[in-house]
Amino acid sequence: MDPIYLDHAATTPIDPEVLQIMVETYQNVVGNPSSIHSFGRQARKIVDDSRHTIAKYIGARSREIVFTSGGTEGDNIAILGTAFANSHRGKHIITSKVEHHGVLKTCAYLESQGFDIDYLDVDRTGRISIDELKAKLRDDTILVTIMFGNNEVGTIQPIREIAHLLANHQAYFHTDVVQAFGTADMDVKDTPIDLLSMAGHKIGGPKGIGFIFVRDGLSLQAYTHGGDQERKRRAGTENVPAIAGLARAVEKVGEHLHERIQESLRSRQIILETLDGQNVTYQVNGNPEHFLPQVLNLYFPGTRVETLLTRLDLEGVAVSSGSACTAGSVEPSHVLTAMFGKNAPETGSSIRVSFGEGMKEDRLREAGKIIAESVRALTSAGKAGESL
Ligand SMILES: Cc1ncc(COP(=O)(O)O)c(C=O)c1O
Repeated sequence: MDPIYLDHAATTPIDPEVLQIMVETYQNVVGNPSSIHSFGRQARKIVDDSRHTIAKYIGARSREIVFTSGGTEGDNIAILGTAFANSHRGKHIITSKVEHHGVLKTCAYLESQGFDIDYLDVDRTGRISIDELKAKLRDDTILVTIMFGNNEVGTIQPIREIAHLLANHQAYFHTDVVQAFGTADMDVKDTPIDLLSMAGHKIGGPKGIGFIFVRDGLSLQAYTHGGDQERKRRAGTENVPAIAGLARAVEKVGEHLHERIQESLRSRQIILETLDGQNVTYQVNGNPEHFLPQVLNLYFPGTRVETLLTRLDLEGVAVSSGSACTAGSVEPSHVLTAMFGKNAPETGSSIRVSFGEGMKEDRLREAGKIIAESVRALTSAGKAGESL
């Protein structure tokens, strides 16, 4: 069959309207936004208007938006920038064991620089405990960084509770919303989040662009040095066409958030129904109540994830074993390990199926059948092997 792409959590195809805007910008806007002549001013206007569109959508002020090259850079700027600018108030940071490597490795780097990091545990559904967070919070805590929704299992964290808990504490609250942005409501007016990072390529936007929200008054130390762009928080000439595309992608999320959620829920339902109809043993990893609809992580007892992924790829179904960054490596997922324990069967036998826009029902059913057949083939081959 024609391959079917069920790996939207890794990245999404670009929205044609976004692409159109980018092409037009490339063709028609030649200036550098920092130049004072009319060409520069034309480019500057695009950057300013895009910033305004994005700020409006999340309930922020334009000056609170800083363009970045995507999720990893956003996480780095937010975490390193806050840590180094506030180290005189303390060196303690709290995060969780299920964060994206963009956060975890940044925290590990800070540990090497003398910061003290606490990694919160999660339960078997991937959620942190507010009580554990309260217990770990100290007078010298300067930052809590907890993701909005997990990229591997989709679990949504208690973001509002965390934000309100920290509202009366010196610690800033950063949340990585890279995976959640397209299917969850984001409003920094409603929820006292201090920093938030997102990436365009998870919502039909261009790759290599994203933004962070930095609440007014928060001191952030820049870690790229050069020009004064982005109010001295991120030096370097802005990627104007990508910024224009990002703004349209964000705007489209705002226009269709409800439909996007419903569509992913429907896709998810179709895959689960198909698996049920095929009589295959599986378990959904994640939280049954607090989850991102587009991320479906499935445990198939008795399979080996590498073999299953290879077979599915040959059969034309593109899924993943977790975050794109660890796909292809034999390392078990740190997220599943945090949820189920080291060497738990779920860590070696689970796949991530993730949905995007415009998925056709018959193709999803076909993919569900192929997944079921592959699982059956691999588990019966395993059983035959055991009896030899
Ligand atoms: C939760 C999360 N954070 C950060 C990133 C990194 O984003 P980028 O690929 O734009 O650097 C990803 C990408 O998979 C992600 O899912």
